[in-house]
Amino acid sequence: MEHPDPLGVLGHEVRNLIATFVGFTELLLSQDWPPEKQREYLETMRNEGVRVSGFLNELLDLQRMEAGVTTPHLRPTDLAGLLRFAAEVAAPKHPIELEVPPELPPALAEPDRVQQVLANLLSNARKYSPRGGPILLSASVNNHHLEISVEDSGVGIPKEALEHVFEKFFRVESLAHRDIRGTGLGLTISRQIVEAHGGRIWAESVGLGHGARVVFSLPLAPASARQLEAATAGSPLSSGGEHIAAHQRNAGHTGGLSRSTAAQPSRGTRIGVLASNRQAADG
Ligand SMILES: Nc1ncnc2c1ncn2[C@@H]1O[C@H](COP(=O)(O)OP(=O)(O)O)[C@@H](O)[C@H]1O
Ligand SMILES: [Mg+2]
Repeated sequence: MEHPDPLGVLGHEVRNLIATFVGFTELLLSQDWPPEKQREYLETMRNEGVRVSGFLNELLDLQRMEAGVTTPHLRPTDLAGLLRFAAEVAAPKHPIELEVPPELPPALAEPDRVQQVLANLLSNARKYSPRGGPILLSASVNNHHLEISVEDSGVGIPKEALEHVFEKFFRVESLAHRDIRGTGLGLTISRQIVEAHGGRIWAESVGLGHGARVVFSLPLAPASARQLEAATAGSPLSSGGEHIAAHQRNAGHTGGLSRSTAAQPSRGTRIGVLASNRQAADG
């Protein structure tokens, strides 16, 4: 698939936004509308403004990540807390079923970034399940990593698109996806974030109409990785040497990540839209 030019897409969005604003302003000025009409027009303007500013924030995020100027500030992070918090935002149409083992070890991560990934995946799960349905949010430990999975029962993803959904501006073209708005940047940003943590992210789906599942992994915090090693040492299933090697790989990687944290720019360049609005704009 050909990649659209980000500036071109931004130009298009801004032009449409201005047309919407000018059009509705003229409409409002043209006569004395009853209050509920005024309200309706103003809400349309606000929603469009929130949506386009969300898009602009995504573009800026992506640009900074691609330029390599944002590296996560990694620290041991309790993901169970983050997941519980994310599950609380559930809407009645999309109840969230949380499946977290009782003693989930901490991950090595920047909480805000993980939250951003979770918000993207949950927003997709809701958006692409227009008829509603439960969302399964689960966490597990697998091979020195935490795996977080968001599973829905919505429109699904065709097999041939499973890898492409992480590409910039890629959107599935199917009848079921057609009327659902989006930018095609959420998963690109999510992949950048997860990979900057030393993790992986991938999508699974049996196909169109069968729901989708997106999973990402994050390295365990070193202490929990060591505890895991101690607990499994001597186990006939795993040699200690293998574990130590894996741990050292992780440690080396995160060392590289934290070296350049001084280059972290301020987030002041974001334009001022509430986080909750960004999500609402997407969904
Ligand atoms: N849970 C899901 N179910 C079905 N399709 C999905 C899901 N998540 C993502 N997709 C597909 O992947 C594309 C890219 O996702 P994303 O980067 O979040 O962009 P968008 O802004 O379009 O939501 C979407 O346009 C959609 O076609
Ligand atoms: Mg999205």
